[in-house]
Amino acid sequence: MKVTPTVVLGLLFTIGTASASAEEARKAQSDPAVERARREVRMLDDIYKTSIVLITTHYVHTDDDLPAGTAFKALFSAVKKKGWHEVRLLDATGEPYNDENTPQQGFEKKAVQQLLNGRAVYDEIVTAGDKRYLLAATAIPVVMDKCVMCHENYKDVPKGKAIGAIGYKVPILD
Ligand code: HEC
Repeated sequence: MKVTPTVVLGLLFTIGTASASAEEARKAQSDPAVERARREVRMLDDIYKTSIVLITTHYVHTDDDLPAGTAFKALFSAVKKKGWHEVRLLDATGEPYNDENTPQQGFEKKAVQQLLNGRAVYDEIVTAGDKRYLLAATAIPVVMDKCVMCHENYKDVPKGKAIGAIGYKVPILD
């Protein structure tokens, strides 16, 4: 297959939830380290979200069961302790189950607003000392009816609209 820019973009779009826009793809081409960080976010996002859905499908039967969201917050905290990346489960409805998941002032609030406006992913590059990080947020829609068992407020949300987000802070490795 001849790899033209159109083919590359086509591939990016099929990768899934965190696909880059044409504009972002063009910018990233001039900074391969940023594109690698974006790829890492797309991979993590697919792994985390697929696992959450699998666990909810097969292990969560009543509202007394341990929610996948709670289990994954424990995983996120372990991953952060090991120094890989930071990741947060965020609310986008204004009525979180747990206030800890309310988006914080700054990047999180801005990113969630972008997702509510219909974007699948929003990211920014930040610098701390001599290190660069990619901050990214990806939308969580109501993916299955079971979510409503515990989150009653998801009942009237239109299909496909974001009710939450996963927020990432991933190092950009030059
Ligand atoms: C068994 C009950 C239960 C089910 C089923 C469930 N959740 Fe949750 N969810 C929770 C609880 C409890 C929290 C708070 C976890 C915490 O912060 O410790 C939570 C947190 C969240 C959050 C973070 C915002 C907030 O409300 O605190 C999102 C987003 C979320 N869940 C989405 C989903 C989605 C999407 C589904 C369906 C795939 C789902 N949940 C299924 C119980 C559930």
